[in-house]
Amino acid sequence: MQTVQVNLGPSSYSLQITPGLLDDLQDLLPPAEGGVVITDEAVDALYGRSPAWDLTMHKIVIAPGEEEKNLQTAAAILDRMQKSGLTRHSIVVALGGGVVGDLAGFCASVYMRGIPYIQVPTTLLAQVDSAVGGKTGVNLPGGKNMVGSFYQPQGVFIDPRTLQTLPQRHFISGLAEVIKYGLAWDYAFFCYLQEHLSQLLALEEEILTEVIKRCCEIKAEVVAQDEKEHGVRKVLNCGHTIGHALEAVTFYKQYTHGEAVFVGLYLETRMAEGLGLIDSAQSQAILTLLGRTGAGLTLKEGLWTKLIRAMLADKKNRSGKISFMLPAGPGRVTEVLLIAEEVMELLETIATQ
Ligand code: GLY
Repeated sequence: MQTVQVNLGPSSYSLQITPGLLDDLQDLLPPAEGGVVITDEAVDALYGRSPAWDLTMHKIVIAPGEEEKNLQTAAAILDRMQKSGLTRHSIVVALGGGVVGDLAGFCASVYMRGIPYIQVPTTLLAQVDSAVGGKTGVNLPGGKNMVGSFYQPQGVFIDPRTLQTLPQRHFISGLAEVIKYGLAWDYAFFCYLQEHLSQLLALEEEILTEVIKRCCEIKAEVVAQDEKEHGVRKVLNCGHTIGHALEAVTFYKQYTHGEAVFVGLYLETRMAEGLGLIDSAQSQAILTLLGRTGAGLTLKEGLWTKLIRAMLADKKNRSGKISFMLPAGPGRVTEVLLIAEEVMELLETIATQ
């Protein structure tokens, strides 16, 4: 069993990462006056039945997909929570990927002004990123994660074996967030990924577990320093300015979150090179690793005006400038604020190269 601690004073909690953990979940859940498991149809079919909750918990199953991460679905979940008789001493279990985790965490954070919840992430993206650190929320039609809260779970239980049943598209999506840690925080981890990518893509359990653990350690370290993203936590947004805009302009239908972040990492790396923040060798090393995952990296030029309009609504912006966290050296990113015209010029230059 691997354990990572998120140190946040009274809101501290631990992450457990163990292949096969889901079989013993009943021994890990904290005592509670009943509760609810929130999951989606795809995960329910695979892992929805469990001795851990069959007798004591209610279950809410939503349709899969980012389109569900909205206020209407949150309202329906909250209504079901109340009708199920949940109290402040009940527990919410988020069983699934990033959409389920963000929605369930958000509902737990506002129901009766906050009740405990735990994360049981079943996708790579959720295991390495979204289930850790307490960001919860839903999208508005005009922007990603526009409504939400920072609300830490009581624990995170990660079973890397769930990735064996994850569709390949979603596994590859999650690699965007994995590579992000190598780019933004830990160059040794970036080199480790260069060396072990094929084993990772082959779902070798030891490598998978190691990679998940390292991502969780980095996330825990960053979140412990800056829980509410006033400073250093922003580094985890690299690739996300373009990624979030791409999701919004395609109405959360065309790209998974990870796929959009892959496009974001690709374009933001090229922007960094265009601005002279990294040299072409550094840029090539990043682009090569992104490309080796098999993820799609480019998009049609026609979308750019819409993308920039969406980026202008990003909650990270300051003084009318769009905020990017761009690669700035091995294992390092830096915030760059650009006006829309500067972004367009950079993107146009990239398109002609
Ligand atoms: N997904 C980035 C963060 O949690 O800060």
